[in-house]
Amino acid sequence: MSVISENRRFMHCPSFKEGMSASDQSKEVPPPPFHRVISPESIPLTPFEGPLPCPGYEALLDVRRSVRSYADKPLTQGELSFLLWSAQGIQFTRGHSSLRPVPSGGARHPFETYIAVRAVEGLAPGMYHYTPQSDIGEKKATIGRICEFDFEDKIAPMLAGQKWAVGAPAILFFTCVPYRAEWRYVDMAHRVMLIDLGHLGQNVMLSAAALGLGSCCMAAYDQALCDEALRLDDLEEYTVYAISVGTAHA
Ligand SMILES: Cc1cc2nc3c(=O)[nH]c(=O)nc-3n(C[C@H](O)[C@H](O)[C@H](O)COP(=O)(O)O)c2cc1C
Repeated sequence: MSVISENRRFMHCPSFKEGMSASDQSKEVPPPPFHRVISPESIPLTPFEGPLPCPGYEALLDVRRSVRSYADKPLTQGELSFLLWSAQGIQFTRGHSSLRPVPSGGARHPFETYIAVRAVEGLAPGMYHYTPQSDIGEKKATIGRICEFDFEDKIAPMLAGQKWAVGAPAILFFTCVPYRAEWRYVDMAHRVMLIDLGHLGQNVMLSAAALGLGSCCMAAYDQALCDEALRLDDLEEYTVYAISVGTAHA
């Protein structure tokens, strides 16, 4: 098998639960420390004496938390639009690259965004796909409907049995299109894509927090069920991340 196929398979997780060996945590091995102690010296740095040039940023970092319990309140289209833009919107293009609110190694942005909608104002429940090229340079989002989607029945199995996710008004699913990164980074592409995904998740979470919404990143998902729901069936494009969004339950 080529290194590229092997790497693609590594990122293609067959089943989160069954694929995982027994952890030291499950064997009650004590957890590792929060950090290493390398130097015997302790130098308390002077705290930053605000205000920050970008007001509100610090509060945003304080308020961002994973939220798994959602109020029975639909997302507005504006909220969804802003979340999609901040995750993958295209601010401008430069040659063969697109520049977006998130960084991506080599500006390859090898991801697609899908939205499982349960409750978004003015949108029929279903599965949608975001097309950022429709709105280059604008802070808005255009989506296309792909198919019907039975959120109540399908979401928990797709997310490795996480029943709480059924209460989210929408869940963003991110897939990778590995060739978009391999085109430039060949067999290094997969490592870069995994790093990219962290930035993407953080943007969604901070944007949700800025909108007064809660969110939760999820790596526990069932590859086959997610790919089936998104109508994908090979290693040219497959699910790599899911993020729930909605108003936190009071
Ligand atoms: C890559 C990644 C995967 C995660 N997967 C899950 C998940 O599948 N289910 C879940 O409930 N939380 C998941 N989380 C959320 C973490 O549990 C959470 O970030 C952590 O407990 C710290 O809490 P905080 O986000 O409120 O700071 C994930 C977070 C990250 C960054």
